[in-house]
Amino acid sequence: MKIAVTSVSGQLGAAIATKLIQIIGSENVIGIARTPKKAKHLNIEVRSGDYNNREEFDKALKDVDAVLLVSGMDEPQKRIQQHRNVIEAAKSNNVKKIVYTSIVGAEENNAFSPIVQSNRQTEKDIQNSGLDWVIGRNGIYIEPDIEYIDTYIKEGEIRNCAENGKCPYTSRTELAYAYTKMLTEDKHNGKVYNLVGEPITQAQLANVINEVYGTNLTFNSVSVESYAKERKAQLGDFMGTVIAGIYEGILKGAYNVQSDYIKATNRPHKSTLEIIKDIKQHN
Ligand SMILES: NC(=O)c1ccc[n+]([C@@H]2O[C@H](COP(=O)([O-])OP(=O)(O)OC[C@H]3O[C@@H](n4cnc5c(N)ncnc54)[C@H](OP(=O)(O)O)[C@@H]3O)[C@@H](O)[C@H]2O)c1
Repeated sequence: MKIAVTSVSGQLGAAIATKLIQIIGSENVIGIARTPKKAKHLNIEVRSGDYNNREEFDKALKDVDAVLLVSGMDEPQKRIQQHRNVIEAAKSNNVKKIVYTSIVGAEENNAFSPIVQSNRQTEKDIQNSGLDWVIGRNGIYIEPDIEYIDTYIKEGEIRNCAENGKCPYTSRTELAYAYTKMLTEDKHNGKVYNLVGEPITQAQLANVINEVYGTNLTFNSVSVESYAKERKAQLGDFMGTVIAGIYEGILKGAYNVQSDYIKATNRPHKSTLEIIKDIKQHN
């Protein structure tokens, strides 16, 4: 069984490919990347695949049994057609199964909602494709918070607009474990899984980071408006809106959904403390 992983040059795609190699062997894993040379370190066959280029996917999906589609990074409206390029190429190559990394969250009422909407459209496109399918709705990754730790330390605080909202964080490693199961086990076909961990507040997150890294961070809440202004000034309009929208979503409980992680993997999701300890140990 040959399984292809798109966006394999990225962190989630690479994490999934790495776990798959352990289970089905490197000769059975095909990476697909917009920038193939960025995936050389995986030591697998890597084919070209830009989501904007249907012809590349027609070639990339030859002799593939199942494909893992990692959600794109473009503006929400562009993503729908980009993902359709992969779905259509999968159909014309007789790929049997497609597994999609979607996202948890609300389709309305926060600045992140347009991205959630575009992911829901791709879910529908996949469900209507005629292929076997499995959809994972990813929780928010914890890794970016850990990468941001130096800034938190400099500022002495975690500052955002989430107030006491709870977010069930996950990690790319936890997701990769779930996706290998969803790709290789038929019992998941036709299922939509919320891939999230335990729900915690930002104050609890600060405490966990303090415990693992010996920091002295506190959480301070600011208004949605001032946080959006601050993020846009630092990251530009698109990414600033996305990031502020994520914390607005946490405030409104948009990601605080029932976890299906155990259904996907047959084991509990790791706690935030365990995940952050793992990240510290491996860096
Ligand atoms: N749940 C969360 O908290 C969260 C956080 C961030 C992102 N996400 C979503 O999860 C996805 C994967 O995240 P990640 O951590 O792997 O991000 P990442 O490390 O930044 O990787 C992004 C990947 O997307 C690829 N890409 C971008 N545009 C593409 C295109 N037009 N055609 C093909 N590939 C394209 C990049 O390819 P190149 O190497 O060529 O640039 C790269 O492989 C993201 O795309 C985003 O939708 C979720």
